[in-house]
Amino acid sequence: MGSIDSEIYKLINNTQDYIQYGMISDRKVPEMMLKKEEPDSLDKIAGQIAKCGKCRLCEKRKNVVPGMGVLNPDVLVVGEGPGADEDVQGLPFVGKAGQYLDKWLDAIGLSRHTNCFIGNVVKCRPPMNRDPQPDEIEACLPYLEQQIALIKPKFILTVGRISSAVLSGQEAGIGRLRGRTYSFKGIPLIPTYHPSAVLRDPTLRKPVWDDLRRLKAELEEIKNVH
Ligand code: URA
Ligand code: SF4
Repeated sequence: MGSIDSEIYKLINNTQDYIQYGMISDRKVPEMMLKKEEPDSLDKIAGQIAKCGKCRLCEKRKNVVPGMGVLNPDVLVVGEGPGADEDVQGLPFVGKAGQYLDKWLDAIGLSRHTNCFIGNVVKCRPPMNRDPQPDEIEACLPYLEQQIALIKPKFILTVGRISSAVLSGQEAGIGRLRGRTYSFKGIPLIPTYHPSAVLRDPTLRKPVWDDLRRLKAELEEIKNVH
């Protein structure tokens, strides 16, 4: 629906066109006069991401990767940013690391199709899979914050150093961060290693399993209280 300003703009132009040309044309209302609506659905947020040019990562992306999953999930899983496979498909965690992550979730009764949402700190692939830079993270974070406000997860699982530091607000590396529960705006948050790190270093499997078991236990506790 157009705002009153844009209706008046149309009316004035139609009158002017009628006087000048004897016809009413359908002149486009300038973008700035259209009322900007607050995104109130995942689709709207995804639509804003699809046109986003707020940081340099927009330049080389094939597709944006806004995230996928259910509303009111038990767990929101947050990674770092899309890799090559995700960039091609426009979906989060669909490559090797993603398939491994799905196994982790399955082991504790979780799935992106029924009770999880999976997203990333940045929605466009950093070239050569480099770390997203602080200014890119800052530019993109409002989308994740809007998504979290909308989907209202019971728990957050951050995988890897970057999403764990950004959402917990703690500076330490993942090895020092993990093993405790933090909070993001009141939502309990458990950090663990990134699945691609665990694929490279199998000694990380044990701590990840400990983190997942603790996530399951704490989730059950929350569910029993409510
Ligand atoms: N790694 C991430 O951090 N996110 C993805 O979506 C895929 C791989
Ligand atoms: Fe926009 Fe985020 Fe993509 Fe940067 S990474 S262009 S802020 S959607």
